[in-house]
Amino acid sequence: MFEEGRLYAPVTTAADGAVTVHLDEDHPGFGDGEYRARRNLIAARALRWTPGDPVPPVDYTDAEQGVWRTVCRELAAKHERLACAEYRRAVAALGLPADHIPQLEEVTARLAPLTGFAYHPAAGLVAFEEFYGSLADGIFHSTQYIRHHARPLYTPEPDLIHEVIGHGGVLAGPRLAELNRLAGRAARRLETPSGRDFFAHVFWFTIEFGVVWERGELRAYGAGLLSSYGEIEEFRGAEIRPLDVAAMGVQSYDITRYQPILYAADGIEQLLDVVGGFFAECDDDTPARLGAPARLGAPARSAASARA
Ligand SMILES: [Fe+2]
Repeated sequence: MFEEGRLYAPVTTAADGAVTVHLDEDHPGFGDGEYRARRNLIAARALRWTPGDPVPPVDYTDAEQGVWRTVCRELAAKHERLACAEYRRAVAALGLPADHIPQLEEVTARLAPLTGFAYHPAAGLVAFEEFYGSLADGIFHSTQYIRHHARPLYTPEPDLIHEVIGHGGVLAGPRLAELNRLAGRAARRLETPSGRDFFAHVFWFTIEFGVVWERGELRAYGAGLLSSYGEIEEFRGAEIRPLDVAAMGVQSYDITRYQPILYAADGIEQLLDVVGGFFAECDDDTPARLGAPARLGAPARSAASARA
């Protein structure tokens, strides 16, 4: 994803066609040659894929299947207490398997009848226009790799668990899927760096890290919170501010820690009204119309689910 660029491991293609995923030295899989070879293979197949072809399946190892089972079990219990009702209903309808990692074709087969969304494979970072813009067409660009099995409840980069349990669950609900489509259409209207930057920050504080009040309790609807084993337990301790597009669009964030500031909607209806309204109408002049001040400090762009 565009705003998650700093967290995605860079992917390069050599002159001879060899594809390499460059993991950081502190990545749990850095010293695991077998894992790194698999990451290279998964990325290479995603790069070679063209729309219309079957999405190349990944031959996940037993260890990776175990990671999926562990995370599914742990997150399901947390979602009962901490996820918003809209998401819990959507996840129940989606029916993701808890006993095996779904291939992207299976995710699409489950999503399509619900909201028409389809999952396309991504090797890593996807350009702004392609990632966000494709949401307008009901397409979600998803990584296919799984975090390293040495640390099943932590990932330094968005992996299939974030993409499918986080975003996929959200995209299974008609109202939140429509909010994503609106975001996609907005992204296609934006051309200036400032307009895109403002939009990406609103996306971050809503689609990735949004929270909503439900019967006096704060609940998560953001994919980054919903897929994070650690942060989902901590978001109620953040500074909670009222939903405010003008403020979110200029609020800097630090991807390397749990979010200290979150914006809460009074309900899903207010989210759809306020943020849906913003996505429906925003253009490159919107930040100026909203009187957005210049952002203080360099915006930290990057990603959801970078933490445990
Ligand atoms: Fe994400």
